Amino acid sequence: SGSSSKNSSLPSILLAGPSGAGKTALLTLFEKRAGRKTSTSTETDEKKSTEPAATHTSQTPVSVQLNAASSEEDKVKKFLLIDTPGHPKLRSTALSHLLPLDPKTGRPLPPSKTSQIKGVLFLLDASTLSPSSPDSSLSQAATYLYDLLLALQHRYSRYTKGSKHPPSIPVLIAANKLDLFTALPASLVKKELEAELGRIRVSRSKGLLDSGVREDDLGAGEKEEGDDWLGEYGSERFEFRQMVEFDIEVEVVGGSVVGGEGPGCEGWWRWVVERV
Ligand code: GTP
Ligand code: MG
Repeated sequence: SGSSSKNSSLPSILLAGPSGAGKTALLTLFEKRAGRKTSTSTETDEKKSTEPAATHTSQTPVSVQLNAASSEEDKVKKFLLIDTPGHPKLRSTALSHLLPLDPKTGRPLPPSKTSQIKGVLFLLDASTLSPSSPDSSLSQAATYLYDLLLALQHRYSRYTKGSKHPPSIPVLIAANKLDLFTALPASLVKKELEAELGRIRVSRSKGLLDSGVREDDLGAGEKEEGDDWLGEYGSERFEFRQMVEFDIEVEVVGGSVVGGEGPGCEGWWRWVVERV
């Protein structure tokens, strides 16, 4: 990540989600609302504007330090928002924050790097999510979400020692672009995602069986049965609440980053402030 060592001790929120979801636009909006203190950005111009800046596909992670004014305590909390690229080839940037792997052995490293991540904001474009929309983004979004939730599930099972669990990392699925008329409301976004994650789960477990590859041919020989299975093992339908078993709370909240007609991003901001 691009954050300096001085910043890395701050509580952090990881911004993830597929390309074009609006992550960088949201970061820009939050910066305006909370005031940028430090930016370790290596790619954005220091342009002043009144709208979320015109964004382009992110290729490098960007961290900004923000202030969350908490109304009860009347004091300012500093936290980091870590923007990550959504391109399928660059997703390890985000996942490595949740489950850092040793590049040599591919085994999980101790969770030190993850300890300051207080939550994941998984943004997606709800206006193209409907399975019936041309160029539906459902499969792309769900594939990424599957890998992200599975990384958190592995984090839970691998770092649990006896009754000691790693600090939980909740996930907010932010259904963005609700200003557009084709957008699905949060309740439908949840339903479509659960159905698609269920399909991915089945096809991945079948893929393993159908390929005729023996488990111990798969590399490190450490793959266990059910390792790629998200949620309750053997259950017929996938539901987000199955993640609670792994201490992972998942919520779906709608909003919009741009477009005056939309619901805005108040709900997401509140979620962030409560967790940092
Ligand atoms: P990558 O960096 O490629 O991973 O994408 P990203 O998630 O950072 O997307 P980005 O912020 O670049 O936004 C993509 C496009 O969506 C931009 O043109 C934004 O202006 C637009 N956009 C973001 N939020 C909204 C929204 O709430 N409504 C509408 N209509 N457009 C939005
Ligand atoms: Mg971006």
